[in-house]
Amino acid sequence: MFRACSSLKGARFYSSLTVKSLYEHVHRTSHENISINGWIKSIRLLKRIAFLDLQDGTSVNPLRIAVPLTNNDEVQFLKNLKTGQTLSISNATWQNTPNRKQPFELQIKNPVESIKIVGPVSESYPLQKKFQTLRYLRSLPTLKYRTAYLSAILRLRSFIELQFMLYFQKNHFTKVSPPILTSNDCEGAGELFQVSTNMSSTASSYFGKPTYLTVSTQLHLEILALSLSRCWTLSPCFRAEKSDTPRHLSEFWMLEVEMCFVNSIDELTSFVETTMKHVVKACIDNQQELLPRQFVSSQEDSASSDLSVNQETQQIKTRWENLMNEKWHSITYTNAIEILKKRHNKILHFKYEPKWGQPLQTEHEKFLAGEYFKSPVFVTDYPRICKAFYMKQNSTPDDTVACFDLLVPGMGEIIGGSLREDNYDKLCKEMKARGMNKSGELDWYISLREEGSAPHGGFGLGFERFVSYLYGNHNIRDAIPFYRTSAGSIDF
Ligand code: 4AD
Ligand code: MG
Repeated sequence: MFRACSSLKGARFYSSLTVKSLYEHVHRTSHENISINGWIKSIRLLKRIAFLDLQDGTSVNPLRIAVPLTNNDEVQFLKNLKTGQTLSISNATWQNTPNRKQPFELQIKNPVESIKIVGPVSESYPLQKKFQTLRYLRSLPTLKYRTAYLSAILRLRSFIELQFMLYFQKNHFTKVSPPILTSNDCEGAGELFQVSTNMSSTASSYFGKPTYLTVSTQLHLEILALSLSRCWTLSPCFRAEKSDTPRHLSEFWMLEVEMCFVNSIDELTSFVETTMKHVVKACIDNQQELLPRQFVSSQEDSASSDLSVNQETQQIKTRWENLMNEKWHSITYTNAIEILKKRHNKILHFKYEPKWGQPLQTEHEKFLAGEYFKSPVFVTDYPRICKAFYMKQNSTPDDTVACFDLLVPGMGEIIGGSLREDNYDKLCKEMKARGMNKSGELDWYISLREEGSAPHGGFGLGFERFVSYLYGNHNIRDAIPFYRTSAGSIDF
């Protein structure tokens, strides 16, 4: 927060102010000689006055600049300005405008002198004032984040990251930086990107063994949790899965938490619920700053009308309020299968028949969270065979493990977590049964169970899925600046 009051100089830590800093000074008295930089969002030319909307990506609000036109040169100068151009503006004066849509505007008296065009645009600059569909915006990877809708999702992501960090810090978690290059396949699903150098054709030559980009940093976090008690990270993860869906990326970010001295899944899920609600509360408290006034439609192909603008903003606010105020549900996998079977047999068939012992499909997850519970729901205690080798086996006779997935409406799974098997013999037996650790490559992991082991557990949150869910955007490709998917190519 900037402190300047008599003038805005305090906000000027390098060459100019930001639009956000001006909004932070809304209730201050008038200022003169303001300099500001940004891109033209729109221009409106009337007979004696022109209005420029300037944006600089720091705020959901554009900056309105009023330019009284006193002679032909000025009219001509304003006529030549184009949407998308970069401007450097000086000598602007602050005007409070309490009766208008925006609480203040800047005024420029001598535009030919005070407006400098710093960067040009071509005649075909595509981001004109009309609404664009998301599908179209995705085809403009170098420009799309100049739109109010998509720049807001990046600011929201950044805000959420900070809120997690503050919360974990307050609760004695250490942020750690586990490696990206690894020799293990944490989830055992075989969806690995293998890494080699450009100096040799054999993938194993650099480190002397096959090396991969991490699919999850969990195994390393377990080592660190057994030193720090509580740790977390937000790291890129890589999965070479062939799923070309709005929920899958080849490169995504996972927020992972690992904590010692947790003895039940309930402890883990209530920690997750409290943590997430803390972040959602912060979003609610800062909604003015986070939610844009203009929405492109969440419909992939159709442009938005004013009606849906309001509806979309309202839907997001309602979602945040509900997330905060409702108790999230929790059911076992076995109960979930019963609910799904009833629906499958009585009303409408799913594409995949729900069967005990089979993973839940996305359609099942979406039904449970979106239609049945209409809220986030923890599904716990999946069959051992559906899940990864490291999960703690339940002492019940039903061959399940102490784990949970958090499912949310419209998106399905956003978190996977579990208690970790800390019994040396059970862990060895499970790995052997799965044909793992044949050459002792995970001996280091197993050995943790012999040296000061502790009951521990943790979870991984798909960061793009969470950001998209909060923003009411159902395609996680919009929640990461340069998305990598199985269907896409890497152009830059
Ligand atoms: O359920 P997953 O596979 O769990 C783990 O990797 C655990 N080792 C985490 C842990 O306990 N530390 O992945 C966790 C989450 C999923 O719930 C999903 O939100 C996200 O990561 N995720 C993906 N997000 C985008 N694209 C993909 N291809 C994803 N795969 C998983
Ligand atoms: Mg999972």
